[in-house]
Amino acid sequence: MKAARLGIIGLTVGVVGGLALVAGGCANEQEKRGHELYVHYCSDCHGESGKQNEGFNWASMPDPKPKDLSNKTEMSTFKDEELFATISRDMLDTSEEGGDEIGDDDFAVPTMPTFKYTLSEDEVWAIVGYVRTLHGTKMEFNVAGRKASLEETLKTAQAKFEQATKAYEAAEKQASEEAEKKSEALKKDVDVDESAYADEQAAMGQAKRELDAAQVAMNNFSTRPGKGVSVPRPDLKTPPAQVAQLVERGKRLYENKYGCNACHNVGGEGGKIGPALDRAGFRLNATWVYRWLKNPQAMDGHTRMPALGLSDADAKAVTLYVDTLRGAKAEPVTGKPSE
Ligand code: HEC
Ligand code: HEC
Repeated sequence: MKAARLGIIGLTVGVVGGLALVAGGCANEQEKRGHELYVHYCSDCHGESGKQNEGFNWASMPDPKPKDLSNKTEMSTFKDEELFATISRDMLDTSEEGGDEIGDDDFAVPTMPTFKYTLSEDEVWAIVGYVRTLHGTKMEFNVAGRKASLEETLKTAQAKFEQATKAYEAAEKQASEEAEKKSEALKKDVDVDESAYADEQAAMGQAKRELDAAQVAMNNFSTRPGKGVSVPRPDLKTPPAQVAQLVERGKRLYENKYGCNACHNVGGEGGKIGPALDRAGFRLNATWVYRWLKNPQAMDGHTRMPALGLSDADAKAVTLYVDTLRGAKAEPVTGKPSE
C-alpha cells in the first residue's frame, strides 16, 4: 500500500504538490478545531488568551484558581504528554476519605474538569496544540504518527487474529477427523479430544482480546467516547436508613472529586458556567439528573458540561445529593425539562 502510493508520487510532480497542499490543510484544520474546542470548553475558566481573571468564571471559582496558560516560563516545563494527561484523566477523590491530595504528583484538582469522557483523543491533541500557541510555543508531539501507529497495531492484531483462527480451525478439524477414524475402527462413538486443540483455542482467545483492545484504542482516537451511548434507566430506590449517608457521600464527591462547584452555584458559592442548583431538587427529576451526569452529551451534544466519568455508584450518590437542594430562594429559570 505504502509502496504503491510512493510510486504514484514518483510519477507526477503535480500529485506531490497536491499532497503537500492537503497536508498543510490538515494542520490548519487541526489548529482551527483546537481553537474552537478551547473557546467552547476552556475559555470560561482560563480566558480567551489563557490569562488569569480573563474568563468570566475565574473570579467565582474556589482556590486553586485556573492556571495562567499564557505563562511561558511555567507552561514550557510541561511536556505535551503531560498537558494531554491533565486534560484527559480520571477525576481523583481529594476528600479525606478519598485520600488523594491537591498537590500530589498526580494532577488532582477537582475544579479542573476531565475531558476524557467528552472528547476524542484527536480532539484533545488539537486542544494541546492550541494551548501551546497561548504561550508562544509549538506542540512537538506527532499526532499523525500516533494515529498511524494505532492503525498499524490494529492491522497487525487483525492479521494475528485471522492466523490464530485458521490455526484453531485446522487443529479442531484434525482432532475431529482423528475421532472419526477411531470411531470407524472401533465401531463405536469416540469423543473428540478437545485437549488436542486447547492451545490453539487459547491463542485465538488471546488474539481476539488484543484485537478488541486495538479497536477500542483506534475508536477512542477518532470518536467521542459518549457518542451513541445511552444511559439505562437507573434504580434510584434506596433503603431509608442509607439515604443520609449516600447524600453525604454525594455532597463530598460533588466538591472534592468532580468539582461540580467549579461551574455551579449553591447558596451564593461556586462558579457560574452552569445554572445555579439551589432549587434543583424541586425542578429536576432524579432519573433525568442521573442520566445527565453520566452522559450530558447524549442529551445535548453542545453542552459545555463535560462527562466527568462518574461510576454508577458515584452518579447515584451525587443525584441523591442534588435532589436535596431545595432552597427557598428563587433562582434563574433555565427551562430544562423535568420529565
Ligand atoms: C471549570 C473551570 C475550568 C475549565 C472549564 C478548564 N479548566 Fe483547566 N484548570 C482549572 C483549574 C482550577 C486548574 C488548576 C490550577 C492549579 O492547579 O493551580 C486548571 C489547570 C489547568 C492546566 C495546568 C495543569 C497543571 O498540571 O498544572 C492546564 C494545562 C489546563 N487547566 C488546561 C485546560 C484546558 C485545555 C481546558 C479545556 C479543555 C480546561 N483547562 C478547562 C479550571 C478549569
Ligand atoms: C465545566 C462546567 C461544569 C461542570 C464541571 C459541571 N457542570 Fe453541570 N452544567 C454545566 C452547564 C453549562 C449546564 C447547563 C446545561 C446546558 O448546556 O444547557 C449544566 C447543567 C447541569 C444540570 C441541569 C441544571 C438545570 O437547571 O437544568 C445539573 C443538575 C448539573 N449540571 C449538575 C452537575 C453536577 C452534579 C456536576 C458534578 C458532577 C456538574 N454539573 C459539573 C456545566 C458544568
